[in-house]
Amino acid sequence: MTADKEASAGAGAGFRRTARLTPAEAATAGALLASGRLVAFPTETVYGLGADATDAGAVADLYAAKGRPAFNPLISHVPSTPDAMRLGRFDAHARVLAEAFWPGPLTLVVPVADDCPVSDLARAGLATLALRVPAHPLARAVLAAAARPIAAPSANRSGRVSPTTAAHVLDDLAGRIDAVLDGGATDVGVESTIVACFGGEVRLLRPGGVSRAELERVLGRPLDGDLADDAGRPLAPGRLLSHYAPAAPVRLDATEVRPGEALLAFGPLMPGVESAGVVENLSPSGDLREAAANLFAALRRLDAAAPAAIAVAPIPAEGLGEAIRDRLERAAAPRTSPE
Ligand code: TXA
Ligand code: MG
Repeated sequence: MTADKEASAGAGAGFRRTARLTPAEAATAGALLASGRLVAFPTETVYGLGADATDAGAVADLYAAKGRPAFNPLISHVPSTPDAMRLGRFDAHARVLAEAFWPGPLTLVVPVADDCPVSDLARAGLATLALRVPAHPLARAVLAAAARPIAAPSANRSGRVSPTTAAHVLDDLAGRIDAVLDGGATDVGVESTIVACFGGEVRLLRPGGVSRAELERVLGRPLDGDLADDAGRPLAPGRLLSHYAPAAPVRLDATEVRPGEALLAFGPLMPGVESAGVVENLSPSGDLREAAANLFAALRRLDAAAPAAIAVAPIPAEGLGEAIRDRLERAAAPRTSPE
C-alpha cells in the first residue's frame, strides 16, 4: 500500500486510486474489504460495491462514494446460509426460501438477530436486515476471504443504472473506490428479488432474478399483500417499512437548547449547552463521515434518556450531510403509522 493511498483512506468521497483486480486476486479483494476499503465485485445479478457491514466508517465511505442523498438500508452479503442465519431471525417461510434459492439471486429481509454485528448505518437503523448469499464464484471467494458480512449496493453512482461489467463500474466510480474485481459480464443483469419474511407474512419488496411464480411454487401458496401501488408500480422498498425514528420529537437546525431538550451536536458546542440534559456530539471536529457513522447510535442513546425533545445542531447539506439531514428530517416528520 503506497503512502498516498494510505493518506486517501477514510477521506470519504476523496480521491482513491482504483485498482483493477483479476479473478485470481479475489482473496486480495476480500482482504481489502476486511481492512475497511471499498471494493466492487461481480455477483450473478449486477456488480456490487462492497464495504465491511460491521464497520460504520467504511459504510459511511460507501454512501459517500455512491453519492447517495439518503441512507437506504443495504443488503448484507455472506458466503453461506448458516452465516446468514446467525445474523437474522428466520421463520419457517424464510427457511424454505433460503433452502430453495441460496446461493442465488434472492434477498431475504428478516428481523435482525440480537447480537448481529451489522452496523446500524448499514441497516439504516431498521429492526430488519436484508441478507443475500450470492452464487457467483468470485463473489463467494471475496466473501469467504473477507470473513464478515459485506454491505453491497449496486456499484453505480446514485441515480444511474446498475452495472453489469467492470467497465460500467469504473465509468461511475473510478477514483472513488479502492478496487474493482473484474469478472466479466454478469449473467442475470437485474438485481436480486427482495422478499420480506416476518410477522408470518411473505411479501415481495422488489421483483428480480427469482420470479414470483418460482417463489409461490416453493412456498406452496401465494405471496401476501402485493407491494405494487394502484398503477402497478412496485413500491420502493425503503418506503415500505417505517424508518427508525426516536420517540422524542426532533427539532432541526436548532441554534439553542431549550429546557428539557437533549442535544445532538455537530462540531463545536453552541452556547447554552450546559442546560441540555444529555448531549451527543456526532463529530466534535465537524467531520461528516464521522457524523454519519455515529448517527443512529447517537440518536438511540439520546432517545434512551427520554428527553422532552431532541435539538439537532445545524448540519451542512453537502456530501454525506445531505443523507444525514434526510434521515433527521424523516425522524422529525409527523409520524405515520407503519405500512
Ligand atoms: O442484486 C442485488 O441485490 C445487488 C447485488 C450487488 O447484490 N444489490 C442491490 O443493492 O441491488 P441495492 O442497495 O442497490 O438495493 C437494495 C434494496 C434497496 O432498495 C433497499 O431499500 C432495500 O434493498 N433494503 C435493504 N434492506 C432493507 C430492509 N431491511 N427492508 C426493506 N428494504 C431493504
Ligand atoms: Mg441499486
